[in-house]
Amino acid sequence: MDKVVLLAGGQGKRMKAEIPKPMFRVLGETMLEWVIGACEESGLSDICVVKGYKSEMIDEYLGDRYETVLQEQRLGTGHAVMQAIPFLNKDTQGNTLVLCGDAPFIDSGTIKNSLELHRSQKNAVTVITAKTDNPTGYGRIIRSDNGISSIVEEKDATVEQKKINEINSGAYWFRTADLITALGELTTENAQGEYYLTDTIFILLNKGMNAGAYISENPNVVLGANDRKGLLMLNNIAREEIIERHLENGVEFTCTDGITIGRDVIIGEGTQILAGTVLRGRTVIGSNCVIGPDCIIENSTVGNDTKLNYVQCFDSVIDNGVKIGPFVQIRPGSHIMDGVKIGDFVEIKNSVIGENTAVAHLTYVGDSDVGGCVNFGCGVVTVNYDGDKKYRCTIEDNAFIGCNTNLVAPVTVGNGAYTAAGTTVVNDVPAGALVLDRGKTIIKEGYALEKLKNRKKKQ
Ligand code: UD1
Ligand code: CA
Repeated sequence: MDKVVLLAGGQGKRMKAEIPKPMFRVLGETMLEWVIGACEESGLSDICVVKGYKSEMIDEYLGDRYETVLQEQRLGTGHAVMQAIPFLNKDTQGNTLVLCGDAPFIDSGTIKNSLELHRSQKNAVTVITAKTDNPTGYGRIIRSDNGISSIVEEKDATVEQKKINEINSGAYWFRTADLITALGELTTENAQGEYYLTDTIFILLNKGMNAGAYISENPNVVLGANDRKGLLMLNNIAREEIIERHLENGVEFTCTDGITIGRDVIIGEGTQILAGTVLRGRTVIGSNCVIGPDCIIENSTVGNDTKLNYVQCFDSVIDNGVKIGPFVQIRPGSHIMDGVKIGDFVEIKNSVIGENTAVAHLTYVGDSDVGGCVNFGCGVVTVNYDGDKKYRCTIEDNAFIGCNTNLVAPVTVGNGAYTAAGTTVVNDVPAGALVLDRGKTIIKEGYALEKLKNRKKKQ
């Protein structure tokens, strides 16, 4: 079976942070995840991650998703792959893809097409390359009549070789058995005194095998980040590419300021995305919505014809024709159904809000099941937490919750029931009833005048 060795041992000193380079994020996702995602999309799931610097962070991130192996000393890319020999030995039949965990833009098209070339040319190794106007720093591809003859590193290259504009992306397909053989013959006789993985090419050619190169149509496959500026550049490239894809799909942007859309986000035709909007994770937005300005939507599904204005929404579902905002937070586990209106300074948490219900302002609905056509007055609070446990409220269809009502959970307000303004509801309210909990109003004539004498008074 074909498999992957993913090099993730790098430190990224110039980032000035003590985390492994592949753990830096592009559009909110680690570079490691971008690379893993491209593998999974290509149907490759037998992956061994070579870790090095701060390996515990890689362990913690991956959990038991994939096998890892530790490169204790950083002695070069060849040495890094050597650490995976026990993994390779488990099945030496197929091919092995070697990838760098800090080059996030490798894509499944490049992976699949290069494998096809690798197989059809019966190569022992096929290097994934790109053509660039600025090859500085990369290994240069030396072509031969029937493939390639070697890769020369920048530090080992002659002036003439430095002019070559086809460069090594750092990604390769190897026949697994031949890779194992070549790794055993690597030496450190080069300008950097390292085990270069690129030397396997020379070794395999010497054994009479074929070495080829696949030029990727995606020039970004070579890109990585050495410093924060480089990382920002990767973010910008990814951001622009994704926005371009959505433009092609009929999504409307009148500007792109502050708009960041994760690579897995899906957006329907005719939807407008306004400035400052961040869409993350597994978010799906329907057609003809207006999202923004300044929304954050994470791992959520939004239907069609919905308008979100200054809304933050996490792990929730919002249906069709809903209007929310400004300044609203929808917290995990919520389901906002068709036609709901939610106004300013409202927080909804782990609750269902039924069709056409209105929650106009200054309200907290937590751990509640709210029916359809319910009206919330201003300042309603579901009192769902007693400092120890959380409880649910049920508010049935057509209920009318007066301003400043406290609903002390667990409590049910029946179908069509009213709660009077300022009421603290502690018992279930039957359908069609009114609950009113208000002390007798007392007015003491003249009382305040006495008080006022002792205070500074505006004449
Ligand atoms: C390498 C290639 C070069 C190519 C470039 C693409 C070699 C000798 N050169 O150069 O031809 O153009 O990548 O970016 O392979 N790593 C380890 N352990 C090590 C050394 C490296 O895990 O001991 C990992 C790094 O974390 C990184 C990858 O291998 O993910 C590439 O290493 P890097 O040092 O960036 O390679 P370059 O010298 O830039
Ligand atoms: Ca209140």
